Parts: sequence; C-alpha cells; structure tokens
Amino acid sequence: MKNTIKTTFASAFEEDVYKGLTNHPKYLFSKYIYDKRGDKLFQDIMNLPEYYLTNCEYNILKNHAEEIAGAFNATDGLDLIELGAGDGKKTKVLLRYLVENNMDFEYLPIDISQNALEELETSLKNEIPQLKVKIQQGTYFQILEKLADFNSRKKVIMMLGSNIGNLLHQDAIDFLKHIRAAMSPEDMLFMGFDQKKHPQTIQDAYNDKTGVTEAFNKNLLIRINSELKANFEPDAFMHWETYNPETGTAKSFLVSQKEQEVKIGELGLNVHFDAWETIHTEISQKYDDQVVGWLAEQSGLKVTDAFTDEKGYYKNYIFRNNQ
Ligand code: AVJ
Repeated sequence: MKNTIKTTFASAFEEDVYKGLTNHPKYLFSKYIYDKRGDKLFQDIMNLPEYYLTNCEYNILKNHAEEIAGAFNATDGLDLIELGAGDGKKTKVLLRYLVENNMDFEYLPIDISQNALEELETSLKNEIPQLKVKIQQGTYFQILEKLADFNSRKKVIMMLGSNIGNLLHQDAIDFLKHIRAAMSPEDMLFMGFDQKKHPQTIQDAYNDKTGVTEAFNKNLLIRINSELKANFEPDAFMHWETYNPETGTAKSFLVSQKEQEVKIGELGLNVHFDAWETIHTEISQKYDDQVVGWLAEQSGLKVTDAFTDEKGYYKNYIFRNNQ
C-alpha cells in the first residue's frame, strides 16, 4: 500500500495519530492513553511504591488541611472547581476537612470521563453525604471557556496530581493564562507541582519493575489497534524513560525493537519503523520554586502560598490573579 497524504479526518484522535506517526521523530499525545483500560492502569500506577507523587500530595492535603482551608477563606462561601478530578482520592481528605469545619462551599469536579465522574459522585454520596456536589463533563478547553460563568461568588480552581507536567512550558503558560482570564481578584488557583529531586527517584517512578508504566504507555498502541483497525504488536516495542536533571523533564518513549511495518486501516496508512526508532509518548515535567514563579509571572499570576511534604518531593501552590 502506498501512502497518500491525508487531510480530512473523522476525529481529533485520527488526525493526531496520523500527524504524530508521519512526523520525524514520531510522537503520540499522552492524553490518548486514558480510555477505560488506561484509566485503570493509571490507578495501578498511583498504587505503585515507586510512584511517590500520589502519597506526597495526599500527605500535604492531610497535614496542611487547616492552613489550606484558612487560605481559601470561605467566609462568604465558595465554589471549589476541580479540573481533572479523576477518582478524587486525594481531594477527599481536603473535602472532608472543609465539610467537618462547616465551610460554606460547593464542589464542582470536572473531568473528561463521564464514567469517572459518576463513580466519584456515588462514592462522595456515601463517604461525605453532607457535601454539595455538581459534576461536569468536558475537556480542559471546554471547561476553561465555562469557568468565567462561575462568578456569583468566590471560586477556587484546583488541579492536583501534577497534571500540568504533561505540558511543555509554553503550553502550560497558555493554559494558565486562560485560567487567569477567568479569575476575579479574590479567586484562587490551587495546583500541585512535582518537584525536582534525586534523578534516580524520578526515573524509578516512571520505570517500575512490575511493568505497569510500560503497559500504560503501550495502551496507546492497543487503543490505536482497536479504534483505528491497526496491527501494532505491543511486544515489538519497549518502554524507555529518560530524566534530564538540567531541564527537569522526564520523557517516555516506545522504542521499536526491530524494523517493522504497521498498518493503520482506518487511516489508510502504513507506518514504517526502523530498528530502534522511537515514538515519544509523554512528558512529566518536574519543577522548582524558580520555574513555578516564572510560569506564574508569564501568565499574569502570583504565588501567594505553598505547602510541601517533609521530604520536599512535591508542592501545592496557591496563585492569585496579578493583573
Ligand atoms: C497524571 C500526568 C501526572 O506524568 O506523572 C504516571 C501520568 N505517566 N506514570 C505523570 C503518568 C506515567 C502522570 N500524570
């Protein structure tokens, strides 16, 4: 089969896969890892001993709940809007504290996965029945458009898990600028940023011995196989992780272990791989105060508070609109 250049696509997924696999070097966007199977594999990652991020953030929210609640200062009530809520495991510690201390607030979790949201809603009903919850389904982009509509009272926008680390700095700045544009002077942004630390600790977090992270990355290939009628052999690729301590960027790759040809039926595309050719699948950026301060400044925000764990592995920052 000879490839002709394709310019019309049935979905963003098709277009992104086509562009990524005809590019040099090849890449795929990590957001496509998260289908039902990918969500499950990410849950498994959060339970890995090597993946310290989840525990660190959990402990920060638990140990600093009082200070965080104090900084939120909800005397006239607030909307707590969480971007990418997922299973809400970490958020629940904070929610429980806020409810127990009679804070007047409503919790608005937003996620791309309707399924995750419904499970979260059910578990919240059981675990924190007094909590007022309103779930919202949408992509970050759709949500950012809607954010400014929540202006009847103070809002705290929350994004946990160092999810911002999937963005290159310039994209992170664009994203933060959009959030800033929706923030009134009293509003706050509460965000988790994984910190620079011993390079081996970071490398290990993305290179677990049990192969869960490998399976997570390879879920991209499995998803392309099933949704785009492709014939990737996941075993013919290996997962490789690099961490550059100078830039703070952890990068994941799938590396072709042989010369091979993969057919993607739905795209009418044959993808050739040389032996040891790569597909870049994810970045997980690590930060320090200086870089976070620079991102804030570039986006018209200012850091007004920060909370960390005893090892200083992870930090949750509070930002305010600086314009
Ligand atoms: C959910 C994007 C924060 O980059 O640490 C975990 C995803 N990838 N292990 C991260 C992930 C491999 C995770 N984020």
